[in-house]
Amino acid sequence: SSPALVRAESLIRSIPDHPEPGILFRDITPLLADREALQATTEALVAPFRGSFDVVAGIEARGFILAGAAAIEAGTGFVPIRKAGKLPLPAASVDYALEYGTATIEMHDDLPAGSRILLIDDVLATGGTLAAGRRIVEQLGYHVAGISVLFEIDGLGGRDVVGDVHTVFRS
Ligand code: PRP
Ligand code: MG
Repeated sequence: SSPALVRAESLIRSIPDHPEPGILFRDITPLLADREALQATTEALVAPFRGSFDVVAGIEARGFILAGAAAIEAGTGFVPIRKAGKLPLPAASVDYALEYGTATIEMHDDLPAGSRILLIDDVLATGGTLAAGRRIVEQLGYHVAGISVLFEIDGLGGRDVVGDVHTVFRS
């Protein structure tokens, strides 16, 4: 991969026991703060799917950052998939289990029917979040054009749960 991507990977920091004992937290904030790294990783998230989607959806909270950047990179709009209770007009709701805890996501249905969505998040761990993201998009009748993730944690089975997923970096 490019020198910019190699450096970007080195800017992902691993924090033991956050937010709970036993969890190795992948902190992408140093990568996000770096102009070159943010640009290179945004490009790498979008590259395999260029021209094949109409809009980017990101999953609250960390997915918003990369999905917003990816939408600008691709020249598309952005749609938020939010944690329950935040959106004023949720049209679908999906419960899922997290590596630490449980959660519910919601989404609006303002897109044209059949819209092709590139789904983006920062980290793939157990896959619960992105599997729920796929489910909510499909529940609303939209098409998942692709799923793209910055960092995949190997050994948690996330890839098996989510299905076809493009990941820029992995452990
Ligand atoms: C984190 C991370 C991914 C998810 C990955 O989100 O940002 O979305 O966990 O884990 P999984 O593959 O096991 O589902 P989290 O909801 O913890 O926090 P955030 O709101 O800061 O994104
Ligand atoms: Mg998240």
